[in-house]
Amino acid sequence: MAKKKFLLVANWKMNPKTPKEVGRFFAVCKKAQIPKNVDVVIAPPFPFLAYARPTKKIALGAQDVFWEPEGSYTGEVSGSMLKNIGVSHVIIGHSERRRYQGETDEVVNKKVHHAFKMKLTPIVCVGETSRDGDGAFFAVIKSQLTWALAKISRRDISRVVIAYEPIWAIGTGKPAKPGDANEAALFIKKIIADMHNSRTAKKVRVLYGGSIDPHNAASFLWEQEITGLLVGKESRDPKSFLNILQCSLLTS
Ligand code: PGA
Repeated sequence: MAKKKFLLVANWKMNPKTPKEVGRFFAVCKKAQIPKNVDVVIAPPFPFLAYARPTKKIALGAQDVFWEPEGSYTGEVSGSMLKNIGVSHVIIGHSERRRYQGETDEVVNKKVHHAFKMKLTPIVCVGETSRDGDGAFFAVIKSQLTWALAKISRRDISRVVIAYEPIWAIGTGKPAKPGDANEAALFIKKIIADMHNSRTAKKVRVLYGGSIDPHNAASFLWEQEITGLLVGKESRDPKSFLNILQCSLLTS
């Protein structure tokens, strides 16, 4: 089997409080050895993007983007603005935005289109609120995914990153079972294969997110269909995040 190239994304959410802490994080990471088989993306909040110090090994991500390139949209940030300050990835449709900002599937789709237009890599979040025994949550994943990727070209789809983040596992300290996350990742690839073809689906990176920590990270990376992690709380402390990064060495 070909070696996997993992993608580890740090989603800092509305943290930290000061630019100084951002500087400290990047200073610690700069000194650290980043494993060769991992791509790293750090997504600080908008005001701190300019304080981040991306390197060849550490790319910069944003936590959101608006779908218009410019204009009278108070409070919004466009993809070209992000691109112009060195951002390469953008998280779209995180469940917290769907919940607190009322972000709909239609909005998520517009943002994915805009991201590709601006040559940003979208990291699209999907995931069910709760897991029922009958597997109805599969329909939720399918619907979110189909909406998010509607009318996206095959070429672009092969570059999309999907983060499977079951909402019940986010910030609860109760991650999904690695096998269940793997099954969801396989399901996601099957939907993309049905929308396009299996060659395209194989190229799509599927991440798992929800209560990842240095102790459980490796068990997810071992799973065949999972090519990376979206890490919230445990990505804010550089030591903890670097420990998660090291887990990818165990699994290669
Ligand atoms: P968590 O958050 O790692 O704190 O559970 C993950 C996320 O919301 O992306």
